[in-house]
Amino acid sequence: MTNGTAKESESIDKRLPQHIAIIMDGNGRWAKKRGLPRYAGHPAGVEAVRGVVEVCVEQQIRVLTLFAFSSENWQRPQKEVNLIMDLFMRSLKKEVRRLERNHVKLRVIGDRSAFADNLQKQIKEAERQTQNNQGLLLQVAANYGGRWDITQAAKRLAEQVQQGKLAPDQIDEEQFSRNLCFTDVPEPDLFIRTGGEKRISNFLLWQCAYTELYFTDMLWPDFNRKALEQALHDFSNRQRRFGRTGEQVQDQTAEAS
Ligand code: IPE
Ligand code: IPE
Ligand code: MG
Repeated sequence: MTNGTAKESESIDKRLPQHIAIIMDGNGRWAKKRGLPRYAGHPAGVEAVRGVVEVCVEQQIRVLTLFAFSSENWQRPQKEVNLIMDLFMRSLKKEVRRLERNHVKLRVIGDRSAFADNLQKQIKEAERQTQNNQGLLLQVAANYGGRWDITQAAKRLAEQVQQGKLAPDQIDEEQFSRNLCFTDVPEPDLFIRTGGEKRISNFLLWQCAYTELYFTDMLWPDFNRKALEQALHDFSNRQRRFGRTGEQVQDQTAEAS
């Protein structure tokens, strides 16, 4: 590879997020707009997931984290919750082969102990079947809450202190991060929320400290290839400063190229 080519691909990589996190919102409204019951939007949402995963695979994005069910979503009508659980189960069974084909590794994040035993088994099985895949890491957040994640990290740290394995003084941001529910991936570079709301709704609270936020009114089942490409384009024009000045960032970019 010539120097020029290496630099070129480096600069393209820099402009693409390594990790995208998405709040897939608007399924209910999408269905209602069509005169359907709101839960009919969820299967349509699964179709959109397929498309987005495909683009991420093509673009060689490292990690995609999708918010599928929040710790607060249990408060929905029982019928809708049951349908979402059924759909989750069916999708795990059905999609695994497609994930395999695309070298996608699946990981479910969240408190899975609240799920029915057969669903927990199916999650484990899908994770096992895809565990050696080296392509995109697809993290599905199910019964996930950012506050739950931070709380369980605090609990784990307290246990380590109690067991004498850790001194309170050793707890810094890095140590804390290591006890969150995923530790081996970069924090999200790009956060996308569809459905028009401009809130985080208890998604990745700790991990999104410096994530670029992107909101679109498009309802999740309508979120297609073009919509994702638009978000990626928007991201490529952001200047990430991490507390520094714009000039410092420019100087550093110039030095690197
Ligand atoms: C997101 O779509 C899917 C889940 C929360 C499971 P919604 O079901 O929240 O759709 P809206 O926001 O009611 O339209
Ligand atoms: C966030 O959407 C959770 C998921 C997409 C899974 P919600 O529809 O539950 O969020 P709120 O209630 O409007 O904040
Ligand atoms: Mg919603």
